Amino acid sequence: MATNAFPSVSSSYSMIFVVVLAFILTFVRSLTLESEVEVLRALKRSVDPNTIPPASYLSTWDFSGDPCESTGAKFLGILCSVPEGNSSSRIISIDLDAAGYDGFLTPLIGNLTELTAIDISKNRFRGPLPENIFDLKKLTRISLSGNFLTGSIPHRVYQLKELETLDLSNNLLSGPIPSGISALRRMKHLTLAHNGFIGKIPNLNGLWQLQTLELHSNMFVGNLPTLPTRLTTLTLCHNLLSGRITSLGTLKQLRSIDVSDNRFTGPISRGIFALPLLAQMNVSFNQLTAMEVNNNHEVGSPLQVFDAQGNRLQGHLPVNLVTFERLLEINLAHNQLTGRIPREYGVRLGNPWRTLFLDHNFLSGPLPSQFSHLKIRGSLASNCLRCTTTIPFCRGGQRPGSACLGEM
Ligand SMILES: *[C@@H]1O[C@H](CO)[C@@H](O)[C@H](O)[C@H]1NC(C)=O
Ligand SMILES: *[C@@H]1O[C@H](CO)[C@@H](O)[C@H](O)[C@H]1NC(C)=O
Ligand SMILES: *[C@@H]1O[C@H](CO)[C@@H](O)[C@H](O)[C@H]1NC(C)=O
Repeated sequence: MATNAFPSVSSSYSMIFVVVLAFILTFVRSLTLESEVEVLRALKRSVDPNTIPPASYLSTWDFSGDPCESTGAKFLGILCSVPEGNSSSRIISIDLDAAGYDGFLTPLIGNLTELTAIDISKNRFRGPLPENIFDLKKLTRISLSGNFLTGSIPHRVYQLKELETLDLSNNLLSGPIPSGISALRRMKHLTLAHNGFIGKIPNLNGLWQLQTLELHSNMFVGNLPTLPTRLTTLTLCHNLLSGRITSLGTLKQLRSIDVSDNRFTGPISRGIFALPLLAQMNVSFNQLTAMEVNNNHEVGSPLQVFDAQGNRLQGHLPVNLVTFERLLEINLAHNQLTGRIPREYGVRLGNPWRTLFLDHNFLSGPLPSQFSHLKIRGSLASNCLRCTTTIPFCRGGQRPGSACLGEM
């Protein structure tokens, strides 16, 4: 019986505890710091009220109550916390919904000194990026993507030592990436795509935890910078980058590379084809001249998509492409490839190759027999092949004999 006495004593203690706790919670409330309420008011005021739809987060910001103390569906998009030794609640996170808010982002946001995250992506915020966001040293996540923000990344971005995600993509931002960005050692995801950024990409190997780097559709020039070795996703397409891509072969964690539509030269080097985790490689629309496909079997290579169209690739088609067992899509169109189509390619059609574009080269000779009856997406047009147009692959015809001198 004695063993039963304990639970009942301790449960009556916990009853008392719950009652006391409820009492404390009822009477000790942490109202939001008044100056931070002011910032929220200013934030809502700087959005055109006609663009605040009824069910949106901002429509629930009703200042007749306290932002951090409101319960239920009030002040959606805000998180608060009470710093130790302080009785006022502070705003630690603002995550707005993509409701189409049209307005300016108030510079007063720089007064929310406890802020750790801000996400206002996919709205219609206009005007300059409020620079004093970059004074908020506790920020771990900034996502302002998909707005109409102008201006540039201030040099003092180096202050945001806690930052893990910076997404400024799809805005109207300009200027260079300040080299101070390489001080942000916690950064994991850096996304500046679809803006008007210019200049060289600074060396980023200081961002040793970086996994995602998306800088596509800007006006970056110069060589590839030194990149951190943990990178898994690299997207640099639609810029004006030049020099070689060979150094990518050292980034063993890469799963996806898109450096298409730049001015890269030199070979697609062995190291790149040997990357152990690479599933997608898009090096199309550059000035690359050679493919160094390895001679050893790439058994286990996860490469699925290989797009190298629109380069200046010379030489014969690499037979060893057939050793990449997962390869599904190949595009080598619009190059200067010569010689025959390897017999081994025929076996791979539909097994597992799903797409094969070899058009606009200088390939010659007969086709492996499978090409005449298998239907997968692809083309052999504009080569110097013996290719009758009744075969779907051959639609579009071949080059005139005069363009094929020495190829037949
Ligand atoms: C914001 O911070 C500035 C500079 O610290 C200060 O002068 C201003 O009064 C603050 N505004 C509000 C609404 O707290
Ligand atoms: C709480 O923090 C605010 C802002 O930093 C400060 O003005 C206030 O004096 C602090 N209150 C206490 C009790 O420490
Ligand atoms: C590769 O990039 C080019 C240009 O950016 C694009 O048109 C093409 O669709 C991409 N290829 C694949 C397989 O996604």
